[in-house]
Amino acid sequence: MKQILIIGNTGGIGKALETAFKDRGDDVTGISRSKDGFDITDEASVERGLKPLEGNFDIVFVATGALTTPDTRPEKSLSQLSLKAMSQQFLLNAAGPAIVLKYSKTLLRKDAPSIFAALSARVGSIGDNRLGGWYSYRAAKAALNQLIHSASIELKRTHPQSICVALHPGTVKTDLTDKYVSSHPAVTPDQAAIHLLSVLGQLTCEQSGLFFDWAGKQVEW
Ligand SMILES: NC(=O)c1ccc[n+]([C@@H]2O[C@H](COP(=O)([O-])OP(=O)(O)OC[C@H]3O[C@@H](n4cnc5c(N)ncnc54)[C@H](OP(=O)(O)O)[C@@H]3O)[C@@H](O)[C@H]2O)c1
Repeated sequence: MKQILIIGNTGGIGKALETAFKDRGDDVTGISRSKDGFDITDEASVERGLKPLEGNFDIVFVATGALTTPDTRPEKSLSQLSLKAMSQQFLLNAAGPAIVLKYSKTLLRKDAPSIFAALSARVGSIGDNRLGGWYSYRAAKAALNQLIHSASIELKRTHPQSICVALHPGTVKTDLTDKYVSSHPAVTPDQAAIHLLSVLGQLTCEQSGLFFDWAGKQVEW
C-alpha cells in the first residue's frame, strides 16, 4: 500500500486519480480548494494546508490548474494579451505547483523511490508548438516544466531516489476542456487516471526532471 497525496482531488482528473489509487489499495490524502480552502496561488494557504501533514508519501501528485482564470481566456492573437491575465496564468499553472513542492518536499519519503508529479500540458512544449495562440496557458505550462526540471536536480541531493516529473494527461473530458475539445478525441477522467497510474509505475529515477505524456512517451521541451 502506497501513501499518496493529491492536491486538487476535486478536479476531473484529480478525483479520478483518487479513485484509481484507492481502487488498488493505496492510502490517499486529498486536499483541495473547494473542500479545504487550499489555494495554490496563496503561499500562506499552501503552508497552512501542508505543514500539519505528517508522513512518508510515496507520491505527491499536483492535479490542479486551469485553462481560463477570472481574467483569461485562451488568446487567439497578440492583441488579446494582458499582463493581468498572464500573471494569473503563471501564478496558477506554474508558481502554484512549485510552492506546493516547496512545502511538500519534506513529506516525500527518502528511504525508497518517491514521486512528485504535476499535471502540465503538451501545449506547454515549445518544440511541439505548431499552431501558436493560447499564449498565457502555453507559457505558464512551459514555465512549470522548467520549475519541475530545476527542482528535480535539487531534490536528488536530499532524496537520491526521487522522481520529479511533469505529465501530460492527454485530452480529457473535464470542466477544463468542456468548451474547447468539441471534435477533438478525448478520454474520460477514469481512463486518463489509469494511463497516468501506469506511467507513474514505470518511471525510474534516471527519468527524473523530464516531461512525459499519458502513454509514458517523453515530450520534447
Ligand atoms: N483536461 C485535459 O484535457 C487536460 C489536458 C492537458 C493538461 N491538463 C491539466 O490537468 C490539470 C487538471 O485539469 P482538469 O481537466 O482535471 O481540470 P478541472 O476538472 O477543471 O479541475 C481543476 C482542479 O484545479 C483546482 N484548482 C483550480 N484553481 C485552484 C487554485 N487556485 N488553488 C487550488 N486548486 C485549484 C480545482 O479545485 P476546486 O475544484 O477544488 O476549486 C480542481 O481540483 C490542469 O493543470 C490542466 O492544465 C488537462
